[in-house]
Amino acid sequence: MVNAVVLETRNLTIRYGASPAIRDVTISIPEKRITAIIGPSGCGKSTLLRAFNRMNDFIPGASHEGAVLFRDRDLYANDTDPVEVRRRIGMVFQKPNPFPKSVFENVAWGPRINGLARRSELADLVERSLRRAGLWDEVKDRLASNGLSLSGGQQQRLCLARALAMEPEVILLDEPCSALDPVSTARIEDLLFELKERYAMVVVTHNMQQAARLADVTAFFDAGRLVEFGETPQVFTRPREKRTEEYVTGRFG
Ligand SMILES: Nc1ncnc2c1ncn2[C@@H]1O[C@H](COP(=O)(O)OP(=O)(O)O)[C@@H](O)[C@H]1O
Ligand SMILES: [Mg+2]
Repeated sequence: MVNAVVLETRNLTIRYGASPAIRDVTISIPEKRITAIIGPSGCGKSTLLRAFNRMNDFIPGASHEGAVLFRDRDLYANDTDPVEVRRRIGMVFQKPNPFPKSVFENVAWGPRINGLARRSELADLVERSLRRAGLWDEVKDRLASNGLSLSGGQQQRLCLARALAMEPEVILLDEPCSALDPVSTARIEDLLFELKERYAMVVVTHNMQQAARLADVTAFFDAGRLVEFGETPQVFTRPREKRTEEYVTGRFG
């Protein structure tokens, strides 16, 4: 893999109570490429994604062993600030979840409370973020409308704009299109493709075609373990592991 590594896990095991959700996972996420995480429901995809920006911290009983590194820094070190981690490593969820506030406020809120933009700069930052999320032209005349009044696809792009406004370095997306229609899905896929010039992205998807279209590299998980990780065409057309082949050809999962 030629690109530099932005995120890395080393022998990472995550448990909820006593039962491990992912086991002994060692994986390197490349810079400025799209990494797809695929695998059957319950195999630990969301758990791994949340480990990358310390969202598992919010789950009572969750614990980990092993390491997560962000540009060689230990994400779970005592002197690492989890709020700063989540600013630099943004997240978009399966169900679009705008705040019940105006379109403008949805995007401006994070930078404002984090002191990232002066009042005079905020409008520019909001516009830039909405443009990058491919939403500006549709909402520029209704910035004061409630974010929840947008369509599902627009809401998901608003959530993307909200993440982009924090000027992150990595964007994690957990099944970002699974609640969207095919047109909105294609829209998001096109956007992610453009965004990889600037950001590393990790996309969890259960849609095999989406992974094949979108991702440069693909990781296949099964029962909490990383089974196979490689360039996407290799994983889909010449899988090394039998289990991967069974999954990508739709024989299970
Ligand atoms: N908050 C939680 N508390 C307890 N168990 C959980 C929690 N979240 C996930 N799990 C369990 O961890 C395993 C992996 O779940 P998850 O990471 O959500 O998988 P996926 O995203 O691949 O469907 C599953 O067995 C699931 O039941
Ligand atoms: Mg999940």
